[in-house]
Amino acid sequence: MARGRYLGRIPLRSLPPEQAERYLLQWHPRRLALEPGSFPLLTSQAIFGNELPLEVEIGAGTGEFAASLAAADPAANVLAIELSNRSAHWAAWLAAESGLPNLKVLRADFKLLGPMLPTAAWRRAYLHFPDPQHKPADAKRIIFNQAFLDAMAGSLQPGGELSVVSDAPGFFMQMLELAEGDGRFAKAHPERYLEGYEPEVKSRFQQIWERKQRTPRQFVLKRI
Ligand SMILES: C[S@@+](CC[C@H](N)C(=O)[O-])C[C@H]1O[C@@H](n2cnc3c(N)ncnc32)[C@H](O)[C@@H]1O
Repeated sequence: MARGRYLGRIPLRSLPPEQAERYLLQWHPRRLALEPGSFPLLTSQAIFGNELPLEVEIGAGTGEFAASLAAADPAANVLAIELSNRSAHWAAWLAAESGLPNLKVLRADFKLLGPMLPTAAWRRAYLHFPDPQHKPADAKRIIFNQAFLDAMAGSLQPGGELSVVSDAPGFFMQMLELAEGDGRFAKAHPERYLEGYEPEVKSRFQQIWERKQRTPRQFVLKRI
């Protein structure tokens, strides 16, 4: 997580081994780099063993939003991808506590998952409250860039959607402008972007920024 946005250390929530096995996948960066062929594709069949539609949250943090998606739609699978060990464990603990059969947490760097991305397989992807860039050194941590749009164009099914939400106005506009220049997507709404975001369950970061009176903005892209 970018410095300056670090708002307290997340306690490590350990899971009993059988729960960890069921809810938490941990893909080590070194193995991802050296043996990409030994990992499964990020599809419902490979990760959940069924053919339900797949929704993916990238940078899922402690997983409140992903858990709410899974609880709201038992006829879909939700994969929460998260880089931080503590956050991923928290999210997996939440999944286990809720007993959701259709939610799994993948602890991995999304930027290393290129070889595991499927073609036209995801119903929805979410990038909510991604870390913004504060200084030039943060640039390598930015998830939303041309490579990310290429990944979404490949993995979303036709008509599939990508939701992007941010509380940081300048950063939000940068992402929006990049998205608007990409002819593989259309907006899923007539407005240029949506002011405010009111999901059933708000993520940890949405709650934090709203307490600081920062109104989130959202845009939703539809894969053409
Ligand atoms: C500001 S937090 C937002 C978390 C969550 N979406 C929320 O709204 O509470 C950004 C999250 O993205 C994760 N992240 C950053 N880079 C990542 C990457 N390359 N792959 C996966 N997760 C990443 C961070 O660890 C952090 O948990």
